Parts: sequence; C-alpha cells; structure tokens
Amino acid sequence: MGKRAVVIGVGHYLPERIVTNTELEKTVDTTDEWIRTRSGIEQRHFAAEGEKTSDLATHAAEAAIARAGIDAGSIDAIIVATSTPDLTFPSVATMVQARLGMTKGYAFDVQAVCAGFVFALANANALILSEQANRVLVIGAETFSRIMDWSDRSTCVLFGDGAGAVILEAREGAGTSADRGILATDLNSDGRHKDILYVDGGVSASQTTGYLRMEGKEVFRHAIEKLAQTAETALEKAGLGTGDVTWVVPHQANLRIIASTARKMGVGMDRVVVTVQEHGNTSAASIPLALSVGVANGQITEGDIVVTEAIGGGLAWGSVVLRW
Ligand code: ACO
Repeated sequence: MGKRAVVIGVGHYLPERIVTNTELEKTVDTTDEWIRTRSGIEQRHFAAEGEKTSDLATHAAEAAIARAGIDAGSIDAIIVATSTPDLTFPSVATMVQARLGMTKGYAFDVQAVCAGFVFALANANALILSEQANRVLVIGAETFSRIMDWSDRSTCVLFGDGAGAVILEAREGAGTSADRGILATDLNSDGRHKDILYVDGGVSASQTTGYLRMEGKEVFRHAIEKLAQTAETALEKAGLGTGDVTWVVPHQANLRIIASTARKMGVGMDRVVVTVQEHGNTSAASIPLALSVGVANGQITEGDIVVTEAIGGGLAWGSVVLRW
C-alpha cells in the first residue's frame, strides 16, 4: 500500500497562428524539404504579439481542469516548467494561480529546458508522496519563438510555441506496477555540456534576453545515447520492461531522434505518440502537448503504461513511467 500520483486530467493550448515550412521559406534561407527530412517538422504555432507564456499556460490549465471536472480552488500546488517566462520574476506559476482565481496553495517554476516537464512531473510526484500536496497542476509552457535568432537557419526553423498541462491527484495504490499513477522516475543532468545548447543572454550575465544557440549535431549525439538509457532505467525501477510499454511519449524535438530512441528501446513506431510534425520543438511544452493530443485522438487510454523521456539544455534529461 502507498500513495500514487494519478493523472486525472490533461489539456493543451496552441496559439492560433500556424507557420508552415513554406511560409518560413519566404524569410529564412531554407526549404520545406530540408526541414522535413532533417527534423520531421511540417509546421509550428507562434504566439501572437502580446500573447505570453502565462496566457498559453492558463489556457492549457483550464482545459485540464475542465477535463478533470474539479474546481481550481481544490489544487494545492502549481508547477510550471518553462525557460521562457513572461518576466524574470515572479514565476509563471504564480501568474497562472492568480488567473485561475486561486488564493491558496503554492506555485513555482522549474527550469530544465526541454526536460522541464519530466523534472516538474517528478517533483510533483515527490510532493504527493511526501504528503505536501494532494492535487498538483503540472504545466509545460513555452514561447521559444521569442528567443530565436532569425538569422540562424540551423535553429530558427526547429522551434514553436505552446502549452500542455496535467493534474495529478493522490490515490491509494497497492504498491505494484498494476497501480495507476506515476510508477517510477529517473532524472539526470551534466553541467559540463552547457556550451552545446544555451541562450546567450540573461539577467546576471548580460541583462539581455539573448538567443538560443545550439550545436545540433552534438545535441543529437547525446540525445541518441541518453534517451533510451533513461527510459529503460525508469522502467526497470518500476519493475517493467520495454515489452510492457503501451505508449512512448517522447520530447518532440526531431523525428529522427524519436525514431532512433524507439528503435534502441525495441518499441515500434506504432507505439510512439508523435506530434513534432505539427508543433515543432516546443521545449518543456512538448510532452504534455503530446499526452493531451494522444488522449484526445484515442491513442492513450486508462490503464496504459506510458513512458515519457526528454533531454534539453544543461544537459538535463530524464524519464517518467506511469500507468494512465
Ligand atoms: N535549411 C537549409 N539548410 C540548412 C538549414 C536550414 N534550416 N540549417 C542548416 N542547414 C545546412 C547547414 O548549413 C549545413 O550545410 P553545409 O553542409 O553546407 O555546411 C547542412 O544543412 C547540414 O547541417 P547539419 O547541422 O550538419 O545538419 P544535421 O543533419 O545535423 O541536422 C539538426 C541539423 C536538425 C539541427 C540536427 O542536428 C538535430 O536535430 N539536432 C538535435 C537538435 C535538438 O533536438 N535540439 C533540441 C534539444 S532540446 C532543448 O533543450 C532546446
């Protein structure tokens, strides 16, 4: 017996404006063909002028709350995973808290770039297991379009904006992998790799926002090596193997990374939720977006074993295994 953090609702929000590869061809020295073959991306959404990360996050949270059929006032904690907050402070999470009309509980942001949602989910699980919260709203929300260097074609074609959210609730479980809820987590980081993926500005260093810089090939190499490894470690902690997996819900950066990780895990692509073609890389928002889309289109259903895995700047990477 013991507590489990069970998903009781999921939702997402994408900004209205869709930018296709063909539209990008008009302003960036690139082609639809290059973007598709290298990354699998066909289009992405960009936030409207004045539309902020907290707006995206609030819409996604409202969708998850509606799906769960609960009152916002019953939520004990909000964690927002983001690297593109509205302001340096306060946190996006406190902005969402106010927008949801909540006057109790606590809210904070987590920053682990593209692995942010996995880190936030693992922390929400820890809060529930340690009885510091019963219901936690976990959001991934980003406006990466705001940190693109439009003169760098190797990065600006890859990213998009969006938000996804899940609500976790404490439930009693038998303590076995038959329980619904989060079964295991695996988190890692290695700060020696800071220079292959970073933003070249910030409060303390330059008092500017800066732009995303990436050595794509190096990031690719680490992703291939580390993603299958962390997913398999988390599965092992849960007492499961890759044969037990119903759905892999990977961070959506690049179709080639997604396919290669699935191959390494011995999981067919028919068991992988893929949204990168429509959303681009939305960093911390990509996994909750994919979870929400996977549920909406009938792929993910109650009782499924779902494995999420992500890697991002830091480097930071990890995996969460849950029974939906
Ligand atoms: N359009 C056309 N040509 C381009 C473009 C573009 N948008 N961008 C680069 N090229 C050219 C390059 O100039 C280069 O030309 P050259 O050979 O004449 O010099 C050629 O394409 C090949 O470039 P590479 O960088 O070698 O291309 P690669 O096959 O490695 O693919 C990519 C690049 C897609 C970025 C790949 O390396 C990748 O996906 N890396 C991982 C990125 C990733 O997932 N990052 C997110 C991590 S999460 C986070 O925390 C943000």
